[in-house]
Amino acid sequence: MTGVPPSLQNLAQYEDAAREILTPAVFDYYAGGAEDELTVQWNRAAFRRFMMRPRVLVDVSAVDASVELLGQRLVLPVLLAPTAFQRLAHADGELATARAARATGTVLVASTLSTFTIEEIAGAAGGCWMQLYVFRDRAITRALVERAEAAGCTAICMTLTVPVQGNRERDARNRFALPPGVEMANFTGRRQAQFPEADGSKLNAYIGQEFDATLTWDAVAWLRSITRLPIVLKGIMVPEDAVLAVEHGAAAVIVSNHGGRQLDGVEPTLIALPRVAAAVAGRIPVLMDGGIRRGADVVKALCLGARAVLIGRPYLWALACGGQQGVEDVLALLRAEVVRTMALLGRPSASLLDESSLSPTPPELAVSAGFRE
Ligand code: GLV
Repeated sequence: MTGVPPSLQNLAQYEDAAREILTPAVFDYYAGGAEDELTVQWNRAAFRRFMMRPRVLVDVSAVDASVELLGQRLVLPVLLAPTAFQRLAHADGELATARAARATGTVLVASTLSTFTIEEIAGAAGGCWMQLYVFRDRAITRALVERAEAAGCTAICMTLTVPVQGNRERDARNRFALPPGVEMANFTGRRQAQFPEADGSKLNAYIGQEFDATLTWDAVAWLRSITRLPIVLKGIMVPEDAVLAVEHGAAAVIVSNHGGRQLDGVEPTLIALPRVAAAVAGRIPVLMDGGIRRGADVVKALCLGARAVLIGRPYLWALACGGQQGVEDVLALLRAEVVRTMALLGRPSASLLDESSLSPTPPELAVSAGFRE
């Protein structure tokens, strides 16, 4: 991994820098959430609810933050979440992210709605997971899964949080659209490559037109019948669904509320995580995303039952700031923070992280000043 640029010290500063670089509409698309953006804020704020309980006089000269996930060892328990339209952030788009993932040994989950093809992305990443939206046209969906498998993807990550599009008022206001020359590259030559003409957010119109709002758990069985790849279910928020995910053969679940971009007012993921982990009871790995901005956040999530976490917005800000190098730098920064936190906590291995490392923050401290949302 490369060093952290001396000018940028933490992930929040990448967001500030990216705000200066991106057009307001693109910044809003990435930063924004649904309606009042309560869940966007809660995902972050939930980390305040836990304080750390360090052990001392532990040999922390060698910290091992690595974890095993679906047969792969990750040096850092952080994956790159699926995020759409990365050429809006940087001309090299998903290819830059994929190369950074490869250089740092990180797993990229490539979005269905990418601006390079899954073959190009998986090639640049040397393998990745593919995020899947199920289209009304099952033939299209099936072809995508087959292409992912042929391209060397190692898992299919089915997103469960978009039966319909969340009410993203920033995008409606900005009439969010893709600029000329940028399209959904997995569908070049087909209607699905472009947004339809519409008032307001064109992505909203696209999702209404293309995504299948009739999906039930049968879709997971169908997906299992068409691929030999492990299926990761992203968007599990309650224990009842966690149990169903295990029963339906999921290889892993991701506790996710889609970064607060879908149902506003839904629980923050850090609060949902321990309940989901308890229901899964170690049968499959539980991952989480939402609000991770510090190495300490990664550590807290692992203490509460996550095998690993995913970051989304932070690497998009880094991509905007510095392309591949930016993404590598952000991962290096996060890795340094994770390792330092584990050392100071007296838990030099990811396997030692559990609830005994945390205690609940008294409410008067949780709301105290100095916290960056
Ligand atoms: C796409 O998945 C989005 O959240 O905009």
